[in-house]
Amino acid sequence: MTTPERVALPMTVPAPGLPARIRIHEVGARDGLQNEKAVVPTAVKAEFIHRLAAAGLTTVEATSFVHPKWVPQLADAEALFPLLGDLSGAGGIALPVLVPNERGLERALALGARRIAVFGSATETFAARNLNRTVAGSLAMFEPVVGRAKADGAHVRGYLSMCFGDPWEGPVPVRQVVRVAKALMDLGCDELSLGDTIGVATPGHVRSLLTALNDEGVPTGSIGVHFHDTYGQALSNTLAALQHGVSTVDASAGGLGGCPYAKSATGNLATEDLVWMLQGLGIDTGVDLDALTATSVWLAGKLGRPSPSRTVRALSPSPAPSPEE
Ligand code: HMG
Ligand code: MG
Repeated sequence: MTTPERVALPMTVPAPGLPARIRIHEVGARDGLQNEKAVVPTAVKAEFIHRLAAAGLTTVEATSFVHPKWVPQLADAEALFPLLGDLSGAGGIALPVLVPNERGLERALALGARRIAVFGSATETFAARNLNRTVAGSLAMFEPVVGRAKADGAHVRGYLSMCFGDPWEGPVPVRQVVRVAKALMDLGCDELSLGDTIGVATPGHVRSLLTALNDEGVPTGSIGVHFHDTYGQALSNTLAALQHGVSTVDASAGGLGGCPYAKSATGNLATEDLVWMLQGLGIDTGVDLDALTATSVWLAGKLGRPSPSRTVRALSPSPAPSPEE
């Protein structure tokens, strides 16, 4: 039997009622790498981000200005960010960074960051574990951050974690998520990213949260979705969000990811899997799938294990069998 040729691209068959263009918010260099135990050299991170930009991604979350002891992998933010200067000038790409507090904001602004993201939690347990604060305490911590960033002309994203379930508290009521989401938006965030931190969401749940947010005055245009793929639901959930009109989707090259402070958080929706679906739907992303896949294969080589993305595996040459096989 002959080996079938790989299928290089999906056939384009548009579906009605979807946005014409999607902005992919690439989180591989931040969410993807923050969970890696072995420290990735700063030069590798810089090359990763340059390669993502060259593949056509226009929003590449670069790093976090958090306490270095809390996320040691991203302790090199001061060294990394200046290496990206050529990407962020006129006509360049957006390089958002995570900032939990005023100390983080000062560090980010000092390096010229123009897009920041605060990151809240819909549940008390994760707020305590991830930020050492209550939900109310974390919102109070973010208030001056958002105020100062906006006064400085920066764009502010508000992440909200545990929107669909929490590993310690279980199901999270939609009304509880909406209350904290509203509070984040009321601080002045430009954009809200709904985090399914542990990947438990399903499409009906996604629709119901989006509708509840709309009912409380949060417009779909200001909402992004951030799905982790623990239970293989990330792409179905994304399609449900697109059908609702969402046009900002977070994804991580190669499906890397996880959160060091949330047990059972695995990789994000893989950017390649997302691009494959969007190309099939005829939705413009501006991303070169081959260049992106090559980037994830290259990074997997640096990390020493294959990418979990199905699309990356399908598009890559098969690795040589290991001696045990
Ligand atoms: P804390 O221990 O309460 O901090 O941590 P503090 O305010 O009490 O300050 C203690 C010391 O830390 C002080 O130094 C501060 O200056 C210093 P000292 O006076 O003792 O010498 N400090 C800092 N140093 C550098 N940069 C800073 C900073 N802040 C304080 N920014 C804190 C509170 C928020 C700092 C800590 O909990 C933290 O850094 N947490 C970050 C956790 C994190 O990054 N988690 C992963 C990202 S969230 C995620 O992945 C979810 C997401 O993907 C969406 C989803 O999937 O759901 C976004
Ligand atoms: Mg995440």
